[in-house]
Amino acid sequence: MEEFHKVRRLPPYVFEQVNRLKASARAAGADIIDLGMGNPDLPTPQSIVDKLCEVVQDPRTHRYSSSKGIPGLRRAQAAYYARRFGVKLNPETQVVATLGSKEGFANMAQAITAPGDVVLCPNPTYPIHAFGFLMAGGVIRSISVEPDETFFPPLERAVRHSIPKPLALILNYPSNPTAQVATLDFYKDVIAFAKKHDIIVLSDLAYSEIYFDDAPPPSVLEVPGATDVTVEFTSMSKTFSMPGWRMGFAVGNERLIAALTRVKSYLDYGAFTPIQVAATQALNGDGSDIAEVRAIYKRRRDVMVESFGKAGFEVPPPPATMFAWAKIPEKFRHLGSLEFSKLLVEKADVAVAPGIGFGEQGDDYVRLALVENEHRIRQAARNIKRFLSSADETMHNVISLNAHR
Ligand SMILES: Cc1ncc(COP(=O)(O)O)c(C=O)c1O
Repeated sequence: MEEFHKVRRLPPYVFEQVNRLKASARAAGADIIDLGMGNPDLPTPQSIVDKLCEVVQDPRTHRYSSSKGIPGLRRAQAAYYARRFGVKLNPETQVVATLGSKEGFANMAQAITAPGDVVLCPNPTYPIHAFGFLMAGGVIRSISVEPDETFFPPLERAVRHSIPKPLALILNYPSNPTAQVATLDFYKDVIAFAKKHDIIVLSDLAYSEIYFDDAPPPSVLEVPGATDVTVEFTSMSKTFSMPGWRMGFAVGNERLIAALTRVKSYLDYGAFTPIQVAATQALNGDGSDIAEVRAIYKRRRDVMVESFGKAGFEVPPPPATMFAWAKIPEKFRHLGSLEFSKLLVEKADVAVAPGIGFGEQGDDYVRLALVENEHRIRQAARNIKRFLSSADETMHNVISLNAHR
């Protein structure tokens, strides 16, 4: 039987192959150190959990909630943007709560895409940026992920040579998977470009609060006039260690927010009210929970960079996000990232995310998530050191048999 039209547009999930190997290694008793998925391991702060428990006692909260988010939650998100970025938003018309930023992004794609619309998407990038639009019938044209002057010449070419003219441009800084951070000057140039060509800008700012130096990542909405063409997505998953709660936001351009809100009003009734109330409290907090999370990821980052480097696997220190983006050691690079990732599971008991899962430009890299504690990260480095030093004697067969390029 033929695959359904939409399903055919979705290639097999690359990470699934590593996940399957990981599961069978674990079933066989291996202690796999999992740096693969970006699934935060830290508990949600107790005060947020307590608020949920308190509110859930009230039966009135058990009814359908508000699809676009309860007013207090939207006000709290607007207050966050004012406090953190100096950006003024109308919580009635410029803020919508989403079931995680992933859902918001995917349904924005559903809301604005006509069949065949061209969308400019970084490569490598978080998969929903491309697949959200592919599922919605759009066509992806890859652009650079480098947030510097090299970004624009190929972008100009892409706009000039795309038929129809591109609908939207996707930004994601701090980037998953590369961890690169954009400056406000870069965003100014992007907005000028988008206005000149009448292109919508969709910015994924999921890692707004996970940064490791004294320069908090800016919002593209800080650029004067950006709301004319831009919507930005943020997430509570990483900032407040709330990935399972499914709470995020889209904010910015009124017409785009209205389109997303309308599509969502047909699809969902909003997050469970106790979750929305607890999320409101989190956003209105004093920021101390966030500082703690940031400090934990920073220590893990430093341990990873140091211990992996000593093991012979160079990991550049990421300035933000919960990921390191590391080039595959030279002698394994010809294998490609999927085969290298499988080797790491089989031979070093370490799971990583193969760069190819984020786009063809990622195939020389693997992504290492900071979701294991410092002790386990050091253990992963020891395992990798052992693997790298024994590979010359033990791996020649495997390497030559699996080499695919
Ligand atoms: C760049 C980026 N955007 C969005 C998401 C999804 O976040 P949420 O849990 O809010 O759907 C992730 C999660 O890893 C991410 O890395």
